[in-house]
Amino acid sequence: MKTIAVLTSGGDAPGMNAAIRSVVRVGLDKGLKVMGVQRGYSGLINGEIFEMERHSVADIIQRGGTILRTARCEEFRTEAGRKKAQNILKAFGIDGLVVIGGDGSFQGARLLSKLGISTIGLPGTIDNDLAYTDYTIGFDTATNTVLDAINKLRDTSSSHERVSIVEVMGRNCGDLALYAGVAGGAESVIIPEKEFNEAELCRKILEGKLRGKLHNLVILAEGVGGAEKLAKRVQEVTGIETRATVLGHIQRGGSPTAFDRILASRMGNRAVELLIEGKSSRVVGVRNGKVYDDDIEEALSVKRKFDDELYNIANIVSY
Ligand code: ADP
Ligand code: F6P
Repeated sequence: MKTIAVLTSGGDAPGMNAAIRSVVRVGLDKGLKVMGVQRGYSGLINGEIFEMERHSVADIIQRGGTILRTARCEEFRTEAGRKKAQNILKAFGIDGLVVIGGDGSFQGARLLSKLGISTIGLPGTIDNDLAYTDYTIGFDTATNTVLDAINKLRDTSSSHERVSIVEVMGRNCGDLALYAGVAGGAESVIIPEKEFNEAELCRKILEGKLRGKLHNLVILAEGVGGAEKLAKRVQEVTGIETRATVLGHIQRGGSPTAFDRILASRMGNRAVELLIEGKSSRVVGVRNGKVYDDDIEEALSVKRKFDDELYNIANIVSY
């Protein structure tokens, strides 16, 4: 292993920069040449590759987004596209590749490793939807961003004695809604993992009002969807003024939390170690506070275990 490369792919996540920095600096420290690939698999196919030095990653640990840019690339889903990528990697003399992204990016990494490229995946997504790892890089920051929004919405919800429905991202995963909901003391959390009952939600809101609650915060995961529609229904049924807020891409930006920076730094280090050990087709994760690695195929087949305990706590303590 002489030359490695790093890319970010799919939706960006805070902490991706910290992960890039770690891969670059650990790689250089171990005597490797490190290349950066711009715009994910799209840049790989187009040869948008440049050599990185220690200073290339200076002053980025605190920045959201990704200095390497990111992209979603249809061509890479085809065999011909991946063959192009393989040829480019060969032309640049790259022996190992670190892919920072979500499950889609990992599918791409898995197929690339089948073409003989040593590939390691680092989980970078705000969704926390990769079951093999307890946390993905970016999830903690996004949770805190949502929390900040919930705190603010609580103020205005209380002043006006309104119901506030807050739609948060996460694709089909309810973790972002659940974690931010618990931390923000939301009255209800609606997530794809649990069946939703509109009548029960409205009853809960009315009961809260009767007990003297001024505000009522409902966190709605995008996987269930439709904050505006739900707000209309809640207002119709309960007679309480209700507003919807879709937080959108605000959740993807911002300076990463200490947790995400540390996680990214540790994971970047492990990725380089794995490449040096001659490993391929592995992903790095964290379980019970320990960084570990797993076969990419096995990791992708792990079924998500929903945190029922946290969901129950959310329902009990917000009542
Ligand atoms: P994320 O990595 O955040 O889940 P996407 O699902 O958009 O984001 O995937 C990012 C990119 O990974 C896609 O644009 C595509 O280039 C590549 N990719 C996704 N799924 C596959 C697949 N099944 N085969 C090959 N490449 C894929
Ligand atoms: O995967 C991250 C994510 O932000 C999801 O939570 C969301 O569904 C999706 O990406 C939004 O994608 P885009 O940035 O393409 O609108």
